[in-house]
Amino acid sequence: MKWLDERLNVSALMASLFAHPVPKRSNFLDYLGFATLFVFISQAVTGILLAMVYKPSAAEAYSSIQALQASTIGNYVRSLHSWSANFMVVLVILHLLRVFYEGAYKRPRELTWIMGGVLLVGTLGLAFTGYLLPWDQEGYWATTVGTAMAGYVPGFGDFLVNVLRDGAQVTGATLTRFYSVHMLILPAIVLLAFMPHFFFVLRQGMSSTDELAEAQHRGEDISKKSSPFWPNVALKMISLVFVVFIALWVLSAIYSKGLGEPADALNKSGYIPEPAWYFFGVYQLLKYFPGTLDVLAMVGLPIIFFVLLFGLPWLDRNPSRSPKKRPIALSVAVVLVIGMIFLTYQGMSSVPKPLAAAGVVAHPSYKKDVQPILQAKCIQCHADIATYAKTIEKVSAGKPADSLLIKRIDGSQEPVMPVGQDPLTKDQIQTFANWIQDGAKNN
Ligand code: HEC
Repeated sequence: MKWLDERLNVSALMASLFAHPVPKRSNFLDYLGFATLFVFISQAVTGILLAMVYKPSAAEAYSSIQALQASTIGNYVRSLHSWSANFMVVLVILHLLRVFYEGAYKRPRELTWIMGGVLLVGTLGLAFTGYLLPWDQEGYWATTVGTAMAGYVPGFGDFLVNVLRDGAQVTGATLTRFYSVHMLILPAIVLLAFMPHFFFVLRQGMSSTDELAEAQHRGEDISKKSSPFWPNVALKMISLVFVVFIALWVLSAIYSKGLGEPADALNKSGYIPEPAWYFFGVYQLLKYFPGTLDVLAMVGLPIIFFVLLFGLPWLDRNPSRSPKKRPIALSVAVVLVIGMIFLTYQGMSSVPKPLAAAGVVAHPSYKKDVQPILQAKCIQCHADIATYAKTIEKVSAGKPADSLLIKRIDGSQEPVMPVGQDPLTKDQIQTFANWIQDGAKNN
């Protein structure tokens, strides 16, 4: 240390690090960001290990993961990587909520918040791009549905989808693109945003330390109200990291990450696409926007989200950081959080079950009988057709024969849907017809 200090003058730096007195009441919620850092490091380590055996091509990706799964260690490393991804999303969101609750995004910590926003987006991006890499049905279709959403942007939607997929469909070219984004671009962005994020926290201390620092500055004795950073606070931080990691290790050992069927662009097995759980809420929200309003949802909501996220320190003009003095900001946040939990729950429970065995349903329900067929057979080309609002546009209630939907599936109007695949069975077509005959209700 002495040797280094003579050369780099690190002790001054360390002094600035430990100079912020930490309040006694400081608890684990304050260290969620710290725990996230360690989960990210775990992602980097397991990711590098996976990259040593993974073959990033449509022809070999699936079999390389299959081979990896055959070894106990390989299987465990992959499970760790997958569980850590979920942990990271949860930790980042909890960390954000804590910072919001304490008003820690306010002056002078706006830049820390902005960098945190970049880290949130980077984390979600890593989760999204990682999903495709095993090249199984789950990842393939989650990516098809996810990237199709960009197509709603007016004017250059098709262009955006093309950029994301490197082509009109999700193919091996998409895999190459996602791999490079997942391995190079996003980790670089996360690291570049993390360094200033962390540096600002070191320089300024956490917002909860401000009050004590001011008291100290006024010459008051704060020794009763503060804990020394070392060992008290440091030990609390390390304990949290341990608890998180033990949970991670145990969960990965008990619930290992499985591998589904290999990706099939024709979806012959009728796999029903669904997004990863953290996108269920967004997915569900889209179902509430009827027909033409979906553009609003696809374009408007992300814009609102980004403006709120990155503009928050300037949108919220209330200078007080005390939760008691910020009733409006906190109520808005509570409504948003409860809304998002509700949507996620709704989205989770409305994911359709696999297609029932053949057979005509006399009085079909949209959600139980009609939507699952659309999701299995049509969603790959019509990302929106499996929502009630879109389905109803192609239907004349009570008149199956006049309905565009029926004409396109029973062969009376070319090209027959689904294009390039086995046609729907007679029973499935009859089920659609019965539903329309019954009045095409959203039941
Ligand atoms: C492989 C891609 C693909 C699949 C799968 C597919 N479609 Fe289509 N669909 C298309 C294309 C391309 C068009 C435009 C063709 C045209 O109208 O000339 C189209 C047009 C349509 C139209 C008329 C235009 C519109 O949007 O109103 C309907 C209705 C339709 N499809 C319904 C379905 C249904 C129902 C399914 C599932 C049973 C399905 N499609 C599956 C590619 C597909």
